[in-house]
Amino acid sequence: MSVQSPPNFAARLLGWYDRSARDLPWRYPPGREAIPDPYRVWMAEIMLQQTTVAAVAGYFRRFLERWPTVADLAAADDADVMAAWAGLGYYARARNLLACARTVVAEHGGVFPDTEAELHALPGVGDYTAAAVAAIAFGRPSIVVDANIERVIARHRLIETPLPAAKREIKTALAPLVPQDRPGDFAQALMDLGATICTPRSPACSICPVMADCAARGRADIERLPVKPPKKAKPQRYGIAWWIERDDAIWLVRRPDKGMLGGMRALPGDAWSDEAPSESGIVHVDHGFTHFDLRLTLVARESEHAAGEGEWWPLSALDAAGLPTLYRKLTDKMRERIA
Ligand code: ADE
Repeated sequence: MSVQSPPNFAARLLGWYDRSARDLPWRYPPGREAIPDPYRVWMAEIMLQQTTVAAVAGYFRRFLERWPTVADLAAADDADVMAAWAGLGYYARARNLLACARTVVAEHGGVFPDTEAELHALPGVGDYTAAAVAAIAFGRPSIVVDANIERVIARHRLIETPLPAAKREIKTALAPLVPQDRPGDFAQALMDLGATICTPRSPACSICPVMADCAARGRADIERLPVKPPKKAKPQRYGIAWWIERDDAIWLVRRPDKGMLGGMRALPGDAWSDEAPSESGIVHVDHGFTHFDLRLTLVARESEHAAGEGEWWPLSALDAAGLPTLYRKLTDKMRERIA
């Protein structure tokens, strides 16, 4: 058996998927003939970027219940969508979600385009999402590579090049394996294999359906693959948020559309900086973003500071404000203080 062209790779993988596919809220059972709703597929793939299946499931159900079609979502208020997204992170995705829904309605008559190239032209739809939606919703034999698939292929082919440069080799290795008849199931089978068997730590090689020709099988250093780029130290940043309370309500603002947590409801405050503040504040939280760590300190301010655009939000209804996790953690701490 040659490692260069594993015989029946797709057949073995799909046979396993037919028996073992995870039952996920956005997923159509393996081999299903019916055409999936591209709106559902697209929504799930956007939510799943950089986010775990477990975190996404509830959001996916709530979004579909509230906005069952792409036209419903396109007609939604921005603030409602941003608030419903709160807690899922990477908020540019939510802004793009709306922009994409509106583009599909305005420019495609409310029908998702069915080619990878046209999908790629939509707001927020990058290489991965275009390929995934084309394969899963439209049966296009596109080459889908997410972090799970990267790991499976880097190991199966013993690709030692560090990421992200390895991506190209991974795609080249994957391309001839993609079956014409079930490309969507194939992509999701690789994802499931990566999530349940070919895991980052302690992969369960003995029960892997493509073990026979895996080049990394049995290697003591299999967990090293795919080779990651060296980790950069994250800078520490600081911010001050203001707690402005009046008549059992607090002053909330909306963050500017551009930048971190763009478009999200938030506590007002100063711009974040590299300098630790001199004020010690009432409470603080430490929050890790992708490219820096933030210490956000809460200070009390008089209601004259409630200036510009914003709204008095009843403290008793704060859970419904749709605050992103950073502010949510801070207001939870503060409420414990004043309870
Ligand atoms: N991660 C990203 N997309 C996925 C999908 N369709 N199924 C399972 N995990 C995923």
